[in-house]
Amino acid sequence: MNITRREALKLGLAGSGVFLSTYGFAGGAEAATETCDRKSLPLNTQLPRFSPQLLERRFEPELPIPEPLQPVLSKTYQVTRRGITFEQPIDYYEITMRKQRVEILPAKGDNPAITAEFWTYNGTAPGSLIHQTKNRESCVRFINQLGNDDNGKPICTSVHLHGMASLPQYDGYAEDLTSPGSYKDYYYPNNRASILWYHDHAVHRTSRNVYMGLAGMYVVEYAPEDFCNPEQADCLPSGEFEVPLVIQDKSFEIPQKGSNEWKLVFNDRGRQGVYADVILVNGVISPHMTVKRRKYFFRILNASASRTYQLTLSQAETIQTSGDVAYQLTIVGSDAGLLAEPVHLLPPQPLRIGVAERYGVVIDFAQFPADVKQVYLRNTTFLANLGPEPSGILRFDLLDQPVTNSCEIPSPLGIMTDREALEDRIVKTRTFRFERGNQWLINGKTWSASRIDADPGQCDIELWNLVNTGGWAHPIHIHLIDFRVIDRNGLKPPRYEQGWKDVVVLNPLETVRVVAKFAPHRGKYMMHCHNIVHEDHDMMTQFEIGKGGPDPLSDRAKPLPAPSLGSTNPPPLIEDLPCQCFEPLPTNCNVQVEPPKDCVQL
Ligand code: C2O
Ligand code: CU
Repeated sequence: MNITRREALKLGLAGSGVFLSTYGFAGGAEAATETCDRKSLPLNTQLPRFSPQLLERRFEPELPIPEPLQPVLSKTYQVTRRGITFEQPIDYYEITMRKQRVEILPAKGDNPAITAEFWTYNGTAPGSLIHQTKNRESCVRFINQLGNDDNGKPICTSVHLHGMASLPQYDGYAEDLTSPGSYKDYYYPNNRASILWYHDHAVHRTSRNVYMGLAGMYVVEYAPEDFCNPEQADCLPSGEFEVPLVIQDKSFEIPQKGSNEWKLVFNDRGRQGVYADVILVNGVISPHMTVKRRKYFFRILNASASRTYQLTLSQAETIQTSGDVAYQLTIVGSDAGLLAEPVHLLPPQPLRIGVAERYGVVIDFAQFPADVKQVYLRNTTFLANLGPEPSGILRFDLLDQPVTNSCEIPSPLGIMTDREALEDRIVKTRTFRFERGNQWLINGKTWSASRIDADPGQCDIELWNLVNTGGWAHPIHIHLIDFRVIDRNGLKPPRYEQGWKDVVVLNPLETVRVVAKFAPHRGKYMMHCHNIVHEDHDMMTQFEIGKGGPDPLSDRAKPLPAPSLGSTNPPPLIEDLPCQCFEPLPTNCNVQVEPPKDCVQL
C-alpha cells in the first residue's frame, strides 16, 4: 500500500471501524508472576567469543525491508475526554514471543545459509514492524510462548514501547512480569509522531532478553500538522523510499563441524557491557541495499545492548589514509519528532547514536558522481566502547540511471517549542549522578520498586542535571517524557541533538542538562542507563509524577476474555489530561499550537 502522509491522516480520522477478523487466540490469563525470578543472573566471566568467519561474508545479504504488521481488528469507540465526545479509532495487534531459528546469512552461491535461534516477536528478529497513524490508538496483545532459558528457568517478559507516553500499567514496568503461557494487552495512545521501538524490560534480565532478539521498531507517522508547512509533509521520502534500519551487534558461537546452525552468545564482559563483533542490520549480517540515485528516508535505531555508533557515509568501508571520500548525511528527526530544521552533517563529523536513540536521516544518492557505484554507512571509533570496533554496517549499491528527486527537504521543518520558553518556566532542578560502586548506581543507589527518587508535579517543567562521574558512557533514558538537551558540560549540543529526545548519551565525566515537562500522565515511571547491562546491574531508578496516578502493578489490566477482545470490551480510557499541560508556547515557525477547546477559557 503506497499512501502519502496526508492520505494516511485522512484514513486515520475516518476510522472506518472495519471488522477484520476475530481473535484466534484461545485462553490465556493475566501473568502468573510467582514463577518469575527477580534476582540478578549469575556473573558470567566467560571471555567474549567472536565470529570472524561470518564477517568474511559481510555485504552478501540483501537488506530485508519489513512489511508493517496488519491489525487483527480495527474499530472505533465513543469516548469523552476533557468534555469533548468523539469517535476514537483503535487497532488491535497480536504479537507472540517465541524462540525461532532465523537466517542471519542467506545461502549465496556455494555459501550455505547460516542460522541461529533467537527469542523473537512473531518469529523474526527484529520483531514485527508496527506502522501507526497518529491519534489512532493501538492495543497490542503480547503473548509469551518463550518457555525456559538454558538454566531451565521461565523466560518472563515485560514489554516497553520506548518513546510512547503510555499509562504506567502499560509502560513495561520492570517488575510487571508476564510468565510463559500468559499474555498481556498493552494500550498505546499514539498521540506523538516519532520513531519508537518496543523491547523487553524484565527486571535484571533486560540485556539478555533484548540481546536474544526481543526488540522491534514501531513508527507513529509524522502528520502534516507536525510540519511548519503542512503542504510540505510529502517532501519527506515515503513508501519504498522510507526504510527502517535496526542496528545491533551480536556474536555467534561456531557450530560443530558440518552444521550451519550457529548459536547466539550473550556475553556481558562481567557486567560491563556487550560489545560484539558482528553487525546485524534488520536481522542480517552487514547487508547491502540497491538504491536509486535519489533521496531516501531512513529511520535508524540503535537496538544494541551497549555499543554507541558514530555513523558516516563514505566511499571506503574502513578509514583510509588517502583517497577516502565522505558524503553528507541529512538529519531530519530525532527520538521524539522532527527537528526544527534539517541538519546537514559534513564529514568528518559523524552522527553519534547511542543505545536506544533514533534518528530520521535523509540520504540523497543523487549527490554522488556517476563513477561512484558503492558507498558505505560506516562506523568509526567511539572511545567508551570496549574491544574491537566493527566498521562496515551497510553498503549501498547505486543504480546507474539518474532519477529526478522529490522536492527539497523543507526548512524550517518541524514545529518545535522554543527551548528558552521551556527554560523560563522551570519550577525545580534535580541532580542525578551516574556512578560505579560495586554495582552501577544512581545517586549511590540500586533499583528498588518501593522507593521514589523524584516527585515532579503533573505538567511541571523541571531541569535535570545528569552527571557522569566516571570514564564510561551512559545513554540515559527517561520514561514517559520528551526532553530538550540544554548543554553538555556547558557547551551547546550538536544541532541534531537539539530536537525532542528521550535518550541522551553521557560521555565520560560529562554533565548533561535537560529540560522537560513532566506530563501527560500521573504515576511511577523509570529512568535508567540504556546500556542495558548497566540497567540490569543496577543503574535504574523511578520517579512519580503527581499523586494518585495508576499503579503499574496493582492497576494492571485485568484479564479479558480473549475471543471478544476489541469487539465488545471497551478499551480503557486514556487518562483525562489537565489543561495546564497544553499551555501554548512560542515555536520556531511562528505558529501557535492550539490547546484543546475546553482549555482556552482558562
Ligand atoms: Cu528503551 Cu526503559 O527503555
Ligand atoms: Cu551506563
